[in-house]
Amino acid sequence: MRTVWQHCHVATMAEGRYSAIEDAAIITNAGLIEWIGPRAELASVEAERTVDLGGAWVTPGLIDCHTHAVFGGNRSGEFEQRLQGVSYAEIAAQGGGIASTVRATRAASEDELFASARQRVQALMRDGVTTIEIKSGYGLDLANERKMLRVARRLADELPLAVRATCLAAHALPPEYAGRADDYIAHICDEMLPALAAEGLVDAVDAFCEHLAFSPAQVERLFIKARELGLPVKLHAEQLSSLHGSSLAARYQALSADHLEFMTEDDAIAMAKAGTVAVLLPGAFYFLRETQLPPMDALRRHGVKIALASDLNPGTSPGLSLRLMLNMGCTCFRMTPEEALAGVTVHAATALGLGDSHGSLEVGKVADFVAWQIERPADLAYWLGGDLPKRVVRKGHEISN
Ligand code: NIG
Ligand code: FE
Repeated sequence: MRTVWQHCHVATMAEGRYSAIEDAAIITNAGLIEWIGPRAELASVEAERTVDLGGAWVTPGLIDCHTHAVFGGNRSGEFEQRLQGVSYAEIAAQGGGIASTVRATRAASEDELFASARQRVQALMRDGVTTIEIKSGYGLDLANERKMLRVARRLADELPLAVRATCLAAHALPPEYAGRADDYIAHICDEMLPALAAEGLVDAVDAFCEHLAFSPAQVERLFIKARELGLPVKLHAEQLSSLHGSSLAARYQALSADHLEFMTEDDAIAMAKAGTVAVLLPGAFYFLRETQLPPMDALRRHGVKIALASDLNPGTSPGLSLRLMLNMGCTCFRMTPEEALAGVTVHAATALGLGDSHGSLEVGKVADFVAWQIERPADLAYWLGGDLPKRVVRKGHEISN
């Protein structure tokens, strides 16, 4: 159905940065954008429907490019411990942290995981999110990683949402491999990843490169396997220390390297050359009360694309609002509201390998957008969460919100 959407302003985010058209119109057809431009240039078209957006500001549908939205249990008890001064690394060393979510996730059925994840994902959707990435990584064996990835696929089937599923089997060492990290990496490479990929459950491969997780050499073995299977890679890198995981990611043309508080200027240069997106996660920075900022000036100077995501997870960022992350990106990391908006649209799409189809409002791209009743685009980064009045369009159809 051809639809004309008008009486609006549009932040198109075309060409990878903030750009706006005032008093604009958009024509959608068959789920795609057929035309977009100033309303004054709108030629008369045969349209089945014309929609008056009431002076709204239209942005691309928001993209949350880094989440761990599928998990069992929660870790509010650890939150209390950390408030008493126990660190994230200390909790992990005591068998808490990721390992405690692994126990709860293994104990949960696929239906239970689906039901709890759906609620969290719907909270993100109420905030204007139309595309989301979901990582596995709390199963850590074939059956349980499969269970998580199947939930991610089912969320895409049952909700008006695009979902990319990332295999994060190399998130932590499962208890049955204690002291045998190399053997676990070999098991992922030889058994888990080929099986999960063959079942069509994996869009990308991720790992946690950190002293308390996996070394760069172990991550590299995983990346070599991913390349062999034709899967793109991403990496949790430089969150708590500098191991140059982000440079390693760049050497493997990773879609993104994520966290990055401890990255160096040389890492930024390598990422810029490779086109690897820097995904910043201010929710985890805030929730862990970190003080080391990602090197924003170096990222900007070398032209690294910067995305922002919720990192929605039970341990370090129980964040149910991507717009809150826009605010935190500005407040904590000194991003401009325009950079933050690019970070949850056009650059987030690139971080998921969806840059050709999503993330900006241009002819031929998927017609996913949000019409916000706000005065200026900066309002999206200004309000601390909350439910802003809006209309959400997915593949050219308005969805109830
Ligand atoms: O992205 N850094 C590792 N992974 C998650 C935390 C997972 C957890 O603590 O459960 C993150 O912050
Ligand atoms: Fe994460």
